[in-house]
Amino acid sequence: MAKGDNQTENVTPLNLQTRMSYRINSFEEYKEAYKKSVEDPEAFWSDIAENFQWRQKWDKVLEWDFEKPDVKWFLNGKLNITENCLDRHLKTRGNKLALIWEPNDPKEKFVRLTYKELHEEVCKFANVLKRNGAKKGDRICIYMPMIPELAIAVLACARIGAVHSVVFAGFSAQAIAGRVNDASCSMVITSDGLNRGAKQIPVKRVVDEAMEQCKTVEKIIVVERLGWAVNMVEGRDVWYHDELKQVSEKNCQAEEMDAEDMLFILYTSGSTGKPKGVVHSCGGYMVYADYTFRNVFQYDESDVYWCTADIGWITGHSYIIYGPLLAGATTMMFEGVPTYPDNGRFWQICDKHGVNQFYTAPTAIRALMAGDVDDVLSYSLDSLKTLGSVGEPINEEAWQWYHLHVGKEKCPIVDTWWQTETGGIMISPLAGITELKPAHATYPLPGVQPVLVDAEGNEIEGNDVEGHLCIKFPWPGMIRTTYGDHERCRQTYFSTYKGKYFTGDGAKRDKDGMYRIIGRVDDVINVSGHRFGTAEIESAINEHPKVVESAVVGYPHEIKGQGIYAYVITAEEVKDAETVRGEIIEKVVQMIGKIAKPEKIQFVSGLPKTRSGKIMRRILRKVAEGDTSNLGDTTTLLDPDVVDEIKAGAL
Ligand code: WTA
Repeated sequence: MAKGDNQTENVTPLNLQTRMSYRINSFEEYKEAYKKSVEDPEAFWSDIAENFQWRQKWDKVLEWDFEKPDVKWFLNGKLNITENCLDRHLKTRGNKLALIWEPNDPKEKFVRLTYKELHEEVCKFANVLKRNGAKKGDRICIYMPMIPELAIAVLACARIGAVHSVVFAGFSAQAIAGRVNDASCSMVITSDGLNRGAKQIPVKRVVDEAMEQCKTVEKIIVVERLGWAVNMVEGRDVWYHDELKQVSEKNCQAEEMDAEDMLFILYTSGSTGKPKGVVHSCGGYMVYADYTFRNVFQYDESDVYWCTADIGWITGHSYIIYGPLLAGATTMMFEGVPTYPDNGRFWQICDKHGVNQFYTAPTAIRALMAGDVDDVLSYSLDSLKTLGSVGEPINEEAWQWYHLHVGKEKCPIVDTWWQTETGGIMISPLAGITELKPAHATYPLPGVQPVLVDAEGNEIEGNDVEGHLCIKFPWPGMIRTTYGDHERCRQTYFSTYKGKYFTGDGAKRDKDGMYRIIGRVDDVINVSGHRFGTAEIESAINEHPKVVESAVVGYPHEIKGQGIYAYVITAEEVKDAETVRGEIIEKVVQMIGKIAKPEKIQFVSGLPKTRSGKIMRRILRKVAEGDTSNLGDTTTLLDPDVVDEIKAGAL
């Protein structure tokens, strides 16, 4: 799409109801809805699902078995999610803005697309996909910067029934290859390069490197962003703008999908092995993304909503693309970073586009908090009505700063707890409707049944308690399987606590029944809201020829929430520690990406292990946290002396 020539002036003012349908409008309604959702979940969800455009209605709302697991929603319902995101709105919202795109550089012109225009762009992209051989059921990897064509490509896949697998554009060639091969993708959609702050990154070159290890990819569609000359492989690679010239048709009939057909795969890290492909379905995911968006953010018809996440993560899928578009909202996407050209960039954008709902991550707030408060105070921010937080626990200090300086004490903050696997928000305040408590995700949404369990798996009743967070009843947006390995899905989420979905998080329920998420209780580290398995980072470190063994833990980091601390054993004593550290970091960057760089690397001669050879991570975590006063009983270790050495060498 040519930038700048599609600025839609004279957008027709809307004359629709300002309150959206099936929205909970008071605390009383919340309580009623919650009660109904537990007493009669099928009636609750079918009432909501009625609001969508189905080609054929479902014959059964729900079938489930958490042992297998086997969960199906809206059985035999037929639909296409893009008809619900786009076509359905054309009559009433055709001239309403669907998408606003703000570039990395504030001097570059932004792009605005109405529902009509977005519909046309999606149809054209879908026709390009078809022209290049893509069809229903194919897996397509999307590795792209935050440009409008990314959202359009995602929707174009959904339009033709192809399964999109978006890979965040900060991942390395190795990481792309692993994901492309796991899902046997037949196509990749990418760009020549990308802008991130002051840097430009050669995206296509990374894809080319990945392709050396991929056998299944037949076509690569390249979108021009920087105007760079890139390597184009004859017969495999095509420019998107050339392909567009070959498709004259401005419409593309949407493919009919079963409610349980796969909509997308999104890879995420767990405590063991390689990242796994979380699979979401067409029908349930649609209903859940829309329902949660409307209720949590309390979006009104003429609002401008902005989520700063990248579409490479689940937050971008559910709350930049699908949720807002399903609800007929105006959604904004931003190409850049919060600190470029200066620390005021987010707030400048809020004023520029009159943003009403602003949804970001605690790590961004903490980074901006570390700067000068005048970077916020010099903007009016008076359009803001609701603020949101996602991805990691928000500490009280960051919550207060966000509330005071950004929200001017008048905007509710929705601290939304959820996961890639849950598809949408699970525990969160509903803006302005339910009570807030700093650093608490508060109450479950109607339709969500959380429980806390103890180490034996017994449900902990009552309030003022703490335990492992599980969900005991299905919800439409939940994970269906892990791609190509259903057993892994069962083991990871459904085997720890019989009959329950285990989140991997620990949580407290306070005296009022409000939830506070404490963090992961498994070997997953959350760095700036991005999940990494310790095993995944260790295996990258172990690729270094001098490394014999390593153990990785998370430690509290002021900006990132958690930082990565690696303990490394080398074959010979390290003479030039800085060089080897640099090489180890390089290995991690190569195997995973820059986002997984260890912050600290300590060389050790051994690791604290039990007699059965298990690494005592608890001890390593304590040392990394700088708390060596109470390491517990270390006498049962294989080599207790190693603990003293580790303590002495702590960074
Ligand atoms: C953490 C992101 C505390 C949690 C949507 C979860 C949170 C993991 C919150 C999922 C929150 C997410 N408060 N912790 N509001 N939101 N988390 O899959 O540990 O990238 O299990 O999904 O992030 O991360 P994911």
